Amino acid sequence: MFLQRRNRILRTTPAIRSMVAETILTPNDFIVPLFIDEGENIQTEIASMPNYYRRSLDGTVKEVKELWSLGVKSVLLFIKCKDELKDNTGKEAWNADGLMQRSIKAIKDAVPEMYVMTDVALDPYSSYGHDGIVKDGEIVNDETVDALVKMSVSHAQAGADMVAPSDMMDGRIGAIRQGLEEANFTKVGIMAYSAKYASCFYGPFRDALDSAPGFGDKKTYQMDYANRTEAVKEALMDVEEGADIVMVKPGLPYLDIVREVKNAVDVPVSVYNISGEYAMIKAAAKMGWINEDKAIIETLTSIKRAGADLIATYFAKDAVKLLNS
Ligand code: PBG
Repeated sequence: MFLQRRNRILRTTPAIRSMVAETILTPNDFIVPLFIDEGENIQTEIASMPNYYRRSLDGTVKEVKELWSLGVKSVLLFIKCKDELKDNTGKEAWNADGLMQRSIKAIKDAVPEMYVMTDVALDPYSSYGHDGIVKDGEIVNDETVDALVKMSVSHAQAGADMVAPSDMMDGRIGAIRQGLEEANFTKVGIMAYSAKYASCFYGPFRDALDSAPGFGDKKTYQMDYANRTEAVKEALMDVEEGADIVMVKPGLPYLDIVREVKNAVDVPVSVYNISGEYAMIKAAAKMGWINEDKAIIETLTSIKRAGADLIATYFAKDAVKLLNS
């Protein structure tokens, strides 16, 4: 054969392949979700997330130190609220002495450079397990937004660098921005879960925090996975309202949305490689059906290639170790 162009030339050796690789993962890409529990010396493996733990604050601080030493720059905090503190107002969410607020302080004290992001949504605090206040069987928007503003300001007061509203109420980004401005927190950022879909893949996460909805589902606030255009609308509105970073969630089944949003906005895009995506890789690897290390790096590289500037992932520590090895 005489061929004018041979595409395999650029795939010949590891050297040339790495020279022309378009997407390169680094520890700066990752945000590490952490599950925090009350108590001391507690480390509970999440049943549906093998090798991932919910830890008391002492162990969490140790973990954060290790993550920093590995080159990871950011954590995203979630707490497991005691049952007796849950109600339908979510008021524990802005308790200045609540587990989240104590965690933010302890982490910032121990590793001040670590960029601390916090989940903002009522579900861990809600007796109904919903992301908002419930009235007559409905999740009410505007009262919930008032609660989210108080929650965000209290995280800022505790020292959070960025709040991450994951609730999908309308108008919350603008309201939170206004709340932060009024309280003089002009350096606190907002990472908006802009395109958050009502997904069955959140199951393991809800095990981790005991936050499954007590009735119904989340389809009146989280997005329908049949929709694409709506993701762009949500992201553009959040940017308009003051979001510093917009997020697409879940990750792997939604890479088309990631690219769509990336092309539409002028802020960084983050992607949440969620609990169910973690569980699938872990389960297949445990069965010996896929190579776990390769699956992790391929998955994260694909998410970045799709347009993610940042990836929240339970695989961050594994990935950083693999990249360094
Ligand atoms: C709740 C929240 C959820 C996740 C992050 N924040 C679950 C939900 O909406 O029910 C899921 C994360 C994951 O599955 O890894 N506001």
